[in-house]
Amino acid sequence: MVEALPIMSSSPVLELRGLTKVYDGKFTALSDVDLSIQPGEIFALLGPNGAGKTTLIGSVCGLVNKTRGKMLLFGKDLDEDPVGPRHQVGLVPQEINFDPFFTVAESLYIQQGYYGQRKDEARVKEVLTALNLHTKADALTRALSGGMKRRLLIAKALVHRPRLVFLDEPTAGVDVELRRDLWTYVRKLAAEGTTIVLTTHYLEEAEELADRVGVINEGRLLLVEEKHALLRRLGEKRLVVTFTQPVTTLPEAARIPGITLAEDGLSLVYAEREGCAPAGDLLRALYTQGLPVCDVETRHSRLEDILIDILRGKPSSAPSSAA
Ligand SMILES: Nc1ncnc2c1ncn2[C@@H]1O[C@H](COP(=O)(O)OP(=O)(O)OP(=O)(O)O)[C@@H](O)[C@H]1O
Ligand SMILES: [Mg+2]
Repeated sequence: MVEALPIMSSSPVLELRGLTKVYDGKFTALSDVDLSIQPGEIFALLGPNGAGKTTLIGSVCGLVNKTRGKMLLFGKDLDEDPVGPRHQVGLVPQEINFDPFFTVAESLYIQQGYYGQRKDEARVKEVLTALNLHTKADALTRALSGGMKRRLLIAKALVHRPRLVFLDEPTAGVDVELRRDLWTYVRKLAAEGTTIVLTTHYLEEAEELADRVGVINEGRLLLVEEKHALLRRLGEKRLVVTFTQPVTTLPEAARIPGITLAEDGLSLVYAEREGCAPAGDLLRALYTQGLPVCDVETRHSRLEDILIDILRGKPSSAPSSAA
């Protein structure tokens, strides 16, 4: 049995300092990444294809040899102890990669052995049930559907009760139901104290699950911020007002920054940001001045809009901190 490492709730589960990876001596996939992951949090690492997410995860899990920098896992320097701390990490890899000749249950027993644990049938049953795979326990892994293979990857990552789990695009190609089931399961794990690092291109997934968000692009960590703070800081409410007749000029009270009147005068858009006049003030001004309002529609920007702004380097999206 692997001895549990002491839990020190205040110290980070994972700390990266100046983590750099140069592939083949010429391509920098990770550049000086500093990042701390706190116990029990769900951290979403977001970025476009090729940003360096899988390279970062691979470095921590020992699948990629870092070029420079320090990695402290549960407070232990991975240069000094590359094996012990990694026994308490689970990885759902982006690529499906298991031996097709074992059954589902066998592959989970093998995984327990691989992490230095005894065969634990109850745990295997529990994980398979949680992932709705229990009816396939005796099926050969090659006989699983694509989505079921993805579920098995998740089961393999969790069966040894890791304290830190990397989910590298865990829901790529899975149905809506599994996505929802997985979200529920991830929340349960986090509530029990498991730390989760998630990468995903489904931004609603990050929006739904994450406590904090990190944005990476071309190997550089551009921003790390608490999700709600980020949505408050960079998100905006968009108010679209349509008129029954063209409006040529807006009344003085409605001429506030953030308003754009359409060229044909039949609508206006107001982008309400933190610290700006509330949309209600604008509506009041429009009604009291007797403008011919026909319809009002509001929309809140989502993480997706914000990520695009950050990646495009919109100045207002400048990072407040990056660690
Ligand atoms: N073994 C390798 N040898 C050379 N270059 C590599 C290797 N693995 C990854 N890269 C390059 O490093 C960069 C980062 O790749 P990585 O897989 O970390 O991106 P990612 O953020 O996970 O992307 P995706 O969202 O597509 O999964 C890419 O440009 C990729 O081509
Ligand atoms: Mg990847």
